[in-house]
Amino acid sequence: MSLYENLLLNLDNGILVITINRADKLNALNIDTIKEIKAAIQQVYDDPAVKGAIFTGAGEKAFVAGADISEISELSNVNARGFAERGQEVFSMIERCTKPVIAAVNGFALGGGCELAMACHMRVASEVARFGQPEVNLGLIPGYGGTQRLTQLIGKGKAMELMMTADMIGANEAKALGLVNHVVPAAELMPKCMEIMTKILSKAPLAIGLVIDCVNAVYDKDEDGYQTEANSFARCCSSEDFVEGTNAFLEKRKPVFKGA
Ligand code: COA
Repeated sequence: MSLYENLLLNLDNGILVITINRADKLNALNIDTIKEIKAAIQQVYDDPAVKGAIFTGAGEKAFVAGADISEISELSNVNARGFAERGQEVFSMIERCTKPVIAAVNGFALGGGCELAMACHMRVASEVARFGQPEVNLGLIPGYGGTQRLTQLIGKGKAMELMMTADMIGANEAKALGLVNHVVPAAELMPKCMEIMTKILSKAPLAIGLVIDCVNAVYDKDEDGYQTEANSFARCCSSEDFVEGTNAFLEKRKPVFKGA
């Protein structure tokens, strides 16, 4: 029996496709689904057969239409902080994963869905995708890191506008704002994500993980990003893949990286 009731996992050539699978509720994130996402991303960390991951949503309508409002409506000041912190922890695990994680945004990415997409290292959207942080409609604010990551990705003024108006924006506007990397027709969404992932996975894995660490360091107030970069650069130079990459260039052949 599968460990997962709300996710579908499919490992394809080292790429773990994690599909949020509650299509009848537009893939809304209930607490059980958040727990399963934590287990799935832990698998990405731990399983050497997994080289990278792609998050997407089941069905044609939604990536994820937010946290599950039927559960949110039960929150009080006693349990709400823990609710937000647990979600934040899971999304931080995604962000800090040193294997690449792409969001394939196939439809509505609202509230927690937009936050899940933003926790991934990059986002590819189908033409029909819609993005928004509509929490103020419910008397709420984003609680899974949205106030921080939306501001980091699109800047203060537009982030303020989107979160205060609760407006939904289409994929092309999201791309113009820097929220998504690429917009493609629906049928090309997974092929495009696979193409990008396959390209990334052909590079030196240690270097890819260190790029992720260094970019994340920009947003970590406790880290000096330049120091993180210098240390990571030095780490690369002591790796077998560095020897292989530079030798392959000089010998005019393709490198064969081992991730060591
Ligand atoms: N939480 C729980 N259930 C949700 C949900 C959410 N965030 N979003 C959608 N659903 C459920 C609906 O209640 C409905 O369930 P039902 O068939 O049992 O009544 C089902 O998913 C389909 O949604 P529906 O609203 O009928 O689809 P629609 O096409 O008319 O509207 C949306 C789509 C996305 C505009 C609308 O569902 C919506 O606004 N969802 C909430 C978005 C939101 O505020 N997210 C932030 C939460 S913090």
